[in-house]
Amino acid sequence: MSDFQLVCPCLFGLEGPLADELRKMGAENVDPQNGRVVFSGTDEMLVRANLCSRYAERVQVLMGVFPAQSFEELFQGVKALPWERWIGKADAFPVNGSCLSSKLASVPDCQAIIKKAVVERLKGKYSVSWFEETGEPRRIHFLILKDTVSVMIDTTGQGLHKRGYRANAAEAPIRETLAAAMVYFSRVRHDANFIDPFCGSGTILVEAALAAQNIAPGVSRRFAAENWDAAGTAIWKRERERARSLETRDTGFQAKGYDIDPAAVALARDNAAKAGVSDCVRVENRGVADFREEGEYGCVICNPPYGERLLNLRSAEELYRTMGGVFLPRRGWSYSIITPDETFEKCFGRKAARRRKLYNGMIRCQYYMYFRETDGRVG
Ligand SMILES: C[S@@+](CC[C@H](N)C(=O)[O-])C[C@H]1O[C@@H](n2cnc3c(N)ncnc32)[C@H](O)[C@@H]1O
Repeated sequence: MSDFQLVCPCLFGLEGPLADELRKMGAENVDPQNGRVVFSGTDEMLVRANLCSRYAERVQVLMGVFPAQSFEELFQGVKALPWERWIGKADAFPVNGSCLSSKLASVPDCQAIIKKAVVERLKGKYSVSWFEETGEPRRIHFLILKDTVSVMIDTTGQGLHKRGYRANAAEAPIRETLAAAMVYFSRVRHDANFIDPFCGSGTILVEAALAAQNIAPGVSRRFAAENWDAAGTAIWKRERERARSLETRDTGFQAKGYDIDPAAVALARDNAAKAGVSDCVRVENRGVADFREEGEYGCVICNPPYGERLLNLRSAEELYRTMGGVFLPRRGWSYSIITPDETFEKCFGRKAARRRKLYNGMIRCQYYMYFRETDGRVG
């Protein structure tokens, strides 16, 4: 039984994998929208999505969605929602959010109106005139987009991409949620040689290893909603046990990482150990020019350096030419490369079989996917 809704915001381009994983977790009425996925809420799904989602940025209770073009409509719309279900008499409830392409354009004003409306609602329910707000915070988030208001309560705390294994990051690390989605899009086989030849801090290697062994990325960290009420503790415990019971540590999956920078190699090893996957992740100091395919099946996924952030444009293009010379089209092998560089295919020397638009933080990238059957030469 569900009588509330949940919503998971995600990076643009990850709505498909996120909707898919939520359905597999048992979520119902899964509705992918731009940059987020809405689904039916239950206490179990709230906890499960936090512990197990690889692609969501956070899990929020979707309190309501309604049209508003005036402060009065905003106030009445917010006041009508059942805040008392989630916010106790002593709890703090800070409000933040954003306004985009809407008549209501002032974030501080909307913030103040929403706060006032929640206070008014709770005053009536708790028969008090003043809220101390000394209890655990229930962070209210709003989005006013094209005159439609969405109001949410965050259950996650620190974003879900913070898995806990990457306290240390090399320069220009890729976001964990994006790395996990790249692994999903490339349909990594468990018996393939999995290789990241530009592994940096090892994010792609770790995310691939976690996914291959069905290890829930959030199983070892804490979440905002865990502190909300003692009654919920049993669900978190049960769902953690469930997640651990679904791990498949004996798949035989092996990942290899290479990097030209010895400091990155040390970092990647350290992060793999922190994530509990060092038994299936090997990292060596090696430049991509020395890359050689070994074995019948292979899957290469990487984000090489690109002009803007790590290398100047010319050396980045030189690197892509080197990659084109060593990532050879071969049946059973696939190569997937993410970069914002629009000239990548030309430098690499072949047109990708598929490409996808993805965002690495705010940077618009293309995910170029090469597999044997459909590779074609570009001039
Ligand atoms: C964009 S970073 C990769 C970040 C990584 N995905 C992560 O999450 O930390 C690119 C990496 O490529 C490495 N690199 C640069 N030139 C290289 C080369 N010729 N061969 C191998 N690695 C190289 C850099 O040392 C850097 O760690």
